Amino acid sequence: MQKKYIISCIYMLLCSTLIAAESLTSPDGNLKLLFSLSKQGEPVYELFYKSKVVIKPSKLGIEIKNDKGLMNDFSLMDTKRTTFDETWTPVWGEENQIRNHYNELAVTLEQITNSRYITIRFRLFNDGLGFRYEFPQQKNLNYFIIQEEHSQFAMADDHKAFWIPGNYDTQEYEYTECRLSEIRETMKKAITHTPNSCFSPTGVQTSIQMKSKDGLYINLHEAALVDYSCMHLNLDDRNLIFESWLTPDAIGNKGYMQTPCNSPWRTVIVSDDARNILASRLTLNLNEPCAYKDVSWIKPVKYIGIWWEMISGYKRWAYTWDFPSVKLGSTDYSKAKASPSHAANNKNTKYYIDFAAKHGFDQVLVEGWNEGWEDWHNKSKDYVFDFTTPYPDFNVQELQAYAKSKGIRLMMHHETSSSVRNYERHMDKAYQFMADNGYNTVKSGYVGSIIPRGEYHYGQWMNNHYLYAVKKAADYKIMVNAHEAVRPTGLCRTYPNLLANESARGTEYEAFQGNTPSHTTILPFTRLIGGPMDYTPGIFDTKISFVSKKRGWVHTTLAKQLALYVTMYSPLQMAADLPKNYDLYMDAFQFIKDVAVDWDESRYLEAEPGNYLTIARKEKGKENWFVGGITDENSRISSFQLNFLKPGKQYVATLYHDGKDADYDTMPTSYEIKKGIVTNKTKITVKLARSGGFALSLTEATDQDKKIKKWK
Ligand code: NOJ
Ligand code: CA
Repeated sequence: MQKKYIISCIYMLLCSTLIAAESLTSPDGNLKLLFSLSKQGEPVYELFYKSKVVIKPSKLGIEIKNDKGLMNDFSLMDTKRTTFDETWTPVWGEENQIRNHYNELAVTLEQITNSRYITIRFRLFNDGLGFRYEFPQQKNLNYFIIQEEHSQFAMADDHKAFWIPGNYDTQEYEYTECRLSEIRETMKKAITHTPNSCFSPTGVQTSIQMKSKDGLYINLHEAALVDYSCMHLNLDDRNLIFESWLTPDAIGNKGYMQTPCNSPWRTVIVSDDARNILASRLTLNLNEPCAYKDVSWIKPVKYIGIWWEMISGYKRWAYTWDFPSVKLGSTDYSKAKASPSHAANNKNTKYYIDFAAKHGFDQVLVEGWNEGWEDWHNKSKDYVFDFTTPYPDFNVQELQAYAKSKGIRLMMHHETSSSVRNYERHMDKAYQFMADNGYNTVKSGYVGSIIPRGEYHYGQWMNNHYLYAVKKAADYKIMVNAHEAVRPTGLCRTYPNLLANESARGTEYEAFQGNTPSHTTILPFTRLIGGPMDYTPGIFDTKISFVSKKRGWVHTTLAKQLALYVTMYSPLQMAADLPKNYDLYMDAFQFIKDVAVDWDESRYLEAEPGNYLTIARKEKGKENWFVGGITDENSRISSFQLNFLKPGKQYVATLYHDGKDADYDTMPTSYEIKKGIVTNKTKITVKLARSGGFALSLTEATDQDKKIKKWK
């Protein structure tokens, strides 16, 4: 303890030698930023919220390979202050209008000895801070290689944190909830997923959500990750200082830069109310406006798919077991025996199309439709798939015609197996094939180690690939849902055909080791800060009873699965279970059919990361509202007033809630449905089971509906 005190005294002393202080306040005056240079000419910033310290004096700088670096020896050359206030309209979103309001301070810093300069730009919003490094073109700063970025985030106390281990290739971890000082001892347990490594004993990924002892919610992430490597954070757990740690490339370099260029924004979202973290639009606001003139082809999607059958282990992606290995082009599938476990066949696809049409879905995803699945994984195989050659039992043209006649589209699946070189090689033909055959959405995937070998999923090279794929898809009017790609950083504002990503542990893990009941109460505070997630909810047969040798089961009640359509925001939502399981619970399935995927307005009614959340959203262009509430392993009572409804109007409320004996382990499918007439004065009180939830739909009452009883 004493040692810790001495260290922090030395630190304070160091910081008290700061010179040339500049300050900036947020438009509402709640946030205050101080910027200064230390005696050594190092850039230093501090952040306060309502006078509480959010970030203690923290250094900024970039270490450059074979160069003195952009770390110190700076003097202040220029400062510029501006204010910005505009409201913009997203193509899709949690609301139809977003206010982008901030005060800005741009400090230009000169390194006199090297005759070069950089700018650090700070933007202070009411909900937090964004800052980035800018490298203008100049004689003495043209090409450079980043060795490391040294952006510090010094925490004021030993906060509680919700975090996943730092890894360059996967984000598919459970979250760990512990104090910052406990990260080191918890790391081993936290590595719940292979590859079993973390870049440091105290390395974590962003977005990380924290809570201070006096109730401040602090979130660290990045925005507009373009042509740069993804930032992790390494914690100095003696001094509680996070520092940026970029993803390296195959030879250990962390970024190839040519001026003029800039880093992504580093973000600190802060509030004393957890609900404001969810309501923050800071990440989107720090991204550039939409890059496309015509966005009429970009539409939210509700879909089902031939997917859970394979993920659960019931069926397979592969067509045959006849080949010892596959070489695309020379392996003759027409001579192979079709396996009865191949799910992506004509008959099954038509069955899904019929179900989708009957229940008002937009699309049907089909995985395992193309040659190569017999031999794709863990082989570091370059030429795996060509993305255009279907298996003999999958007739693209016939199925497309069938789907079209029923008002349904098929959704394309491109598993790249992380042979990215192969994907780029085939990309134009693959997207042209989609356009020719009526597909407008692709689910892509990056399972396994990257080829070119040695590159990581979150390095600069791969980040450029993910964006290249999104832009290229736009040329063909294709929307993208990329799995295993780098975590989102709000780029969907600029490129709204990036409908969703996975980039976290999704429902698929329920079929493997399972997800903890608190997982979905944390994701909106972490992974979703950067953008929508294709979480694939809607599993009704939570015990996966149709599979004999189960690996996992779904750790929620059925009612909680319904709530996720509201609490896990995404313009791309899957009803992931098998149609036959929906047939068993048609009355509950009605909620999935009714719930919207695009919104005019969102209200965050109750929220505590790791514990619970309740969110209400108004359907875009309609008077309907949908509310979802979830809880962790503890049951709870949720209580809220419908004060967001139009005053003086009557609505039909349909509440899908956990039954009296519901429990995620012992009685997950116990649910009840209650109907009644409500107004904006009505108070809803509902009990959630352990890992339970509720879903509520509210539609304007017609004259006929007025016969329905008043809500009690
Ligand atoms: C992992 C994805 O997350 C999953 O959705 C997909 O089915 C498999 N990869 C196969 O591509
Ligand atoms: Ca995955």
